[in-house]
Amino acid sequence: MKHNDYEDPEYARAYLAEADSIPFRKDGEGVLLSFIPEDVSRVLDLGTGDGRLIALLLSHCPKASFTGTDSSATMIEAASVKFSAIDRVEIVQHDLYDSLAGFGDFDVVVSSFAIHHCSHERKKSLYEEIFNCLNPGGVFYNLEHVASPSEHLHKRFLDALGVRSEDEGNILLDPVAQIQWLREMGFIDVDIHWKWLELCLFGGVKGG
Ligand SMILES: C[S@@+](CC[C@H](N)C(=O)[O-])C[C@H]1O[C@@H](n2cnc3c(N)ncnc32)[C@H](O)[C@@H]1O
Repeated sequence: MKHNDYEDPEYARAYLAEADSIPFRKDGEGVLLSFIPEDVSRVLDLGTGDGRLIALLLSHCPKASFTGTDSSATMIEAASVKFSAIDRVEIVQHDLYDSLAGFGDFDVVVSSFAIHHCSHERKKSLYEEIFNCLNPGGVFYNLEHVASPSEHLHKRFLDALGVRSEDEGNILLDPVAQIQWLREMGFIDVDIHWKWLELCLFGGVKGG
């Protein structure tokens, strides 16, 4: 298991308290939602936090069952409480560095602002595992914190968030490199579907 800043309860609670105030995130979430087919059976949310994306997707995918994973006990607790009365949501403690084999097959894999905490090597192998656990025609969309192409734009992003420096746990990568990997793995219709400074939605479809 790798170090995860969100294992510190105070750090995790501070994120949850501020989560709604991240500029334009709701726009990115709205675009993500628009790419998710409604008639799906199984949805996986990696690094679910308190289950923010699952909460958005519950009514969008009325027949789906959801698995949300996270390694932070505080996040697991928050998500478990949020969905305690909803049978079609399961919250599982799982580290993003550990294999997805064993979770079964999915129609949809989503993630928001989580995979950038992994090394670039693990990002790539995780995307491969995501490809392998998707059913043919399944989709993967990652609403992600990505690297800026210049120091000026990076500073502009930090200013917009009102923070002075990058969190040490962030391992940011250019989204173009990430969509190139997805294309090489066999995802189709891959694109950067939405972007504002370092917030970016990218992903595609497993052809077949
Ligand atoms: C910025 S929060 C995003 C949470 C949620 N997806 C959202 O959009 O609100 C990042 C999440 O990634 C999780 N995370 C970071 N590193 C992880 C790891 N190695 N394994 C599992 N979860 C991890 C954290 O615990 C945290 O819940």
